[in-house]
Amino acid sequence: MKKLVLSVIICLVLVSLIGCAAPAAPAAPEPTATKAKKTYADMTLCYPQLGAESDWRTANSASIKETAQQLGIKKLVFSDAQQKPENQISAIRSCIQQGVDVIALPPVVEDGWDAVLTEAKNAGIPVIIVDRSVSADPSLYAAHIGSNMKLEGERAAAEMNRLLPNGGKILEISGTTGSGAAVGRAEGFRAKLNSNIQIIDTQTGNFTRAEAKPVMEAFLNKYGTDIQGLFIHNDDMAIGAIEALKAAGVKPGDIKIVSVDGTRGGFQAMIDGWIQADVECNPLLGPQVFELALKLMNGEPVEREILTNETVYYPENAAELLPSRKY
Ligand code: AHR
Repeated sequence: MKKLVLSVIICLVLVSLIGCAAPAAPAAPEPTATKAKKTYADMTLCYPQLGAESDWRTANSASIKETAQQLGIKKLVFSDAQQKPENQISAIRSCIQQGVDVIALPPVVEDGWDAVLTEAKNAGIPVIIVDRSVSADPSLYAAHIGSNMKLEGERAAAEMNRLLPNGGKILEISGTTGSGAAVGRAEGFRAKLNSNIQIIDTQTGNFTRAEAKPVMEAFLNKYGTDIQGLFIHNDDMAIGAIEALKAAGVKPGDIKIVSVDGTRGGFQAMIDGWIQADVECNPLLGPQVFELALKLMNGEPVEREILTNETVYYPENAAELLPSRKY
């Protein structure tokens, strides 16, 4: 009997030991920690603005600053490169060192960005190209937001064709040499201009009033007032050219002017009879830039090319629209 009790006890001990050694049932999986979505409050965005050359640019800077404030982003690193690409490159390098989340770059010219864009890419910082285009390999940036500059040039040509149905000689004051805006507008304009209209000269006014005025003065000295049209790449330069035309005794409408931007100054020049058509280029890009930047911070897919919807403005309704113009 004693033996039986002992063997039962041994059996029970063994069973309990084997039970302990038996593999544990698989544990219920830990709930995977979902990565918290980043918000605007987490965002540091770098905006190395290219300059302050025009009313368009002033409005673009204001749109970026106001939107950053409205959305409550953590920090906006804003600088003004004074139309010098080398200043923009230094500003981008400083932003990379600061470890910003996103860089939004409005490039002064198309070429020369490969090295610094590669540095941003290697640092894991996405870059949005804003406003003008770059010639760099598209793999070096995440997306482009801005206007279709070639289409703007085409629209300007359609207006010049309408204004000069019998053809004529025209002059062009172009934007900054090598900038996406000047290159695209010049190309689109030439592609659609009627063959009976001849561009007899083209000079840059660097998108500023101050530089366009002497260009127009030099044109007047060289060609006199026997020209039928002017294609001017922005309203600031048109205003500078108009000053020179006034000083030379030219009357509003004597020479047909097609300009670009649609600023308040451009609208006033249409009301005064100087500009006959103003092709819109919209600088209010802040909301789109920040929305895209947040998507990039969260690793969401984004559209690579976001083009702004634009139109053409005319003197006929300029007075009515001027009070509601935001830039
Ligand atoms: O890139 C946009 C152009 O730059 C605008 O037409 C001009 O006004 C600005 O300086």
